[in-house]
Amino acid sequence: MKLFAIIFFLFLIDIYFYLGTLSIIDKFFNNTIFYKLLYWFLSISIYIVIIYVVNTYSNTTPSVRLNNNVIYSSFFAILFISKLIGSVPLIIDDVLRIFKIIITLFNVDSHIHDVKRLDFLKKSALLFSGVLFSTLLIGMKWGRYNFKKNYQDIFIKDWPVALNNYKIIHISDLHLGSFNNIDKFNEAVEMINAENADLVVFTGDLVNNYHEEAIPYIDSLKKIKSKDGKISILGNHDYCDYVMLKRDSQEWKTNFKKLLELEKESGFDLLLNESRVISKAENKFNIVGVENWGAGNFNKDGDLDTAMNIVDDSLPTILLSHDPSHWKEVVLKSDYDIDLQLSGHTHGMQFGIEIPGFKWSPAKFRYKEWAGLYKIAGNQIYVNRGLGHLGYAGRVGIMPDISVLNIRSKV
Ligand SMILES: [Fe+2]
Ligand SMILES: [Fe+2]
Repeated sequence: MKLFAIIFFLFLIDIYFYLGTLSIIDKFFNNTIFYKLLYWFLSISIYIVIIYVVNTYSNTTPSVRLNNNVIYSSFFAILFISKLIGSVPLIIDDVLRIFKIIITLFNVDSHIHDVKRLDFLKKSALLFSGVLFSTLLIGMKWGRYNFKKNYQDIFIKDWPVALNNYKIIHISDLHLGSFNNIDKFNEAVEMINAENADLVVFTGDLVNNYHEEAIPYIDSLKKIKSKDGKISILGNHDYCDYVMLKRDSQEWKTNFKKLLELEKESGFDLLLNESRVISKAENKFNIVGVENWGAGNFNKDGDLDTAMNIVDDSLPTILLSHDPSHWKEVVLKSDYDIDLQLSGHTHGMQFGIEIPGFKWSPAKFRYKEWAGLYKIAGNQIYVNRGLGHLGYAGRVGIMPDISVLNIRSKV
């Protein structure tokens, strides 16, 4: 029933976009039969593939895949998103026509059949969808694995002067189930290792759902090096909550246990509402890691009180928490003296603009803190843009992120 509703919705978009743009195509080409055939051949083929995939995909099938399913589904998605966005000018046009029709009803001199679509709005529909589709396609080809190092100086009060320029590599949101290229992942590992970091932190979403997704990448994860260790936390996707498995089922428990084992095998010290002290000679600071805590419908396994239980608050404290909404909803409201929170989760929506001095993404409408460093009254949060991808197998403007954080004492 749900599938039927989705197909029906896609079909409505198709019909609307087709009818709205046909006459413009007609103007460019004498014979529109090719456009008509191609349009409906593509659309109907996609419906058939969607029905096939939904009917053959089992919820219990682990998504261990080094295949191109994620590419095909992204291609279909961007095709329909482009048509949907391209339909906006057509909708504006139709609203205007309805007003004009109402006006003509009260005006004896004009006739309803005089009310036609505005040409420029029809052209806009084609232009909008064409540009969006091409951009998203380019983002799949050239954005998906176009890793970018983002350098950031972060000042922390009471940070030991001897640890000035302490280098933390911050990565997040690997989503290994959709990351279907080990060679590309190894490129990212080499870029990380080239920095010779003091500490590597990973702020969650290792997989999309199942622990098996990470297995092909364990050897690569093991190769990530740092002087003082590798510390990780869990993201909302690491709990296998999105595949209809009940948390008290044996299958869920086995999957979760194996995911924790894989984190350990990869050389990461996974913090589950706990803390560590990093020491270099006499100089120390705290690293605290909570399980996922997200505002709204996201799971709330993160427990700041438990994580802070044995923390010596005379030392500088860095908190790892996957979802940046945890910062304002819990961390800033607490009495704990947390100098810096490191988060991920937003992916910068894998779409936007980021140039020196300016950044924008639709992610900002959902998360006020969505990429980079933010400060409120001496408190700071840094949000990583994610190294992998989810849903759309590409990136436009907001590139896969390897954050290189240079921690310094506040002068
Ligand atoms: Fe994520
Ligand atoms: Fe997430």
